[in-house]
Amino acid sequence: MKVILALNQAAGDQAAFNVFQQVIDNGARVLGLATGSTPEGLYRLLRESSLDFSAMTSVNLDEYVGIAPDNPQSYHYFMNQHLFNAKPFAHSYLPNGLATDPDAEVKRYDQVVADNPVDLQLLGIGRDGHIGFNEPGSPFDGGTHRVKLTESTIEANARFFASKDEVPREAYTMGIGTILKSREILLMAYGDKKADAVQKMVEGPLTTAVAASALQKMDNVVVIVDPAAAAKLQPASISKRL
Ligand code: F6R
Repeated sequence: MKVILALNQAAGDQAAFNVFQQVIDNGARVLGLATGSTPEGLYRLLRESSLDFSAMTSVNLDEYVGIAPDNPQSYHYFMNQHLFNAKPFAHSYLPNGLATDPDAEVKRYDQVVADNPVDLQLLGIGRDGHIGFNEPGSPFDGGTHRVKLTESTIEANARFFASKDEVPREAYTMGIGTILKSREILLMAYGDKKADAVQKMVEGPLTTAVAASALQKMDNVVVIVDPAAAAKLQPASISKRL
């Protein structure tokens, strides 16, 4: 894992954009994408760029259970607004939050990822160390599954809803094992609320209690942090400063 400390969020977004540009220039075919506040600046840079995704495929990490794709709270909707409307891909896949047969849905999505091996997977990190919606305790070798969100995640995501009660309690997510199969992984983390999770991911023990710690020993992982998210890291943990 290589940790890049950016001067601020804008510098971090630019560094992340450069990683995207490079892997696309090198012939990447499949991008693994994330939602949430963290990638919004990167998606703006991608929208405003001359990059062309029309021959590429995207696969997203996760989707809430019980929410239709055209619901503004859904991750389908988020991706359309932040990227796909401006920069369509040949194929874009997300889990189906309205699937009536959860077992069939997780199998379908694992097959989607198996058929479209991810060249570059973008990740954010939850305050509890989750990646995708792999909450504490998720096995490092797990595939796509349906998950109950933790109280910490429900509280963190309540800002996107009228009230905390409206936040879905469950989601479909790629598993940690699914994520680890990606050729390259780029995790972004900004702000002081992420400082604990970042410290545990980078320096803490390898433990399923912190899903992101699964990335610690991988040499194909780049982490981009701003000073607030890096506040609890030892200087020696930082590979590069921008
Ligand atoms: C979103 C996802 C989550 C978020 C994480 C951070 O697709 O998989 O793991 O990346 O919850 O969310 P933000 O960026 O809103 O702080």
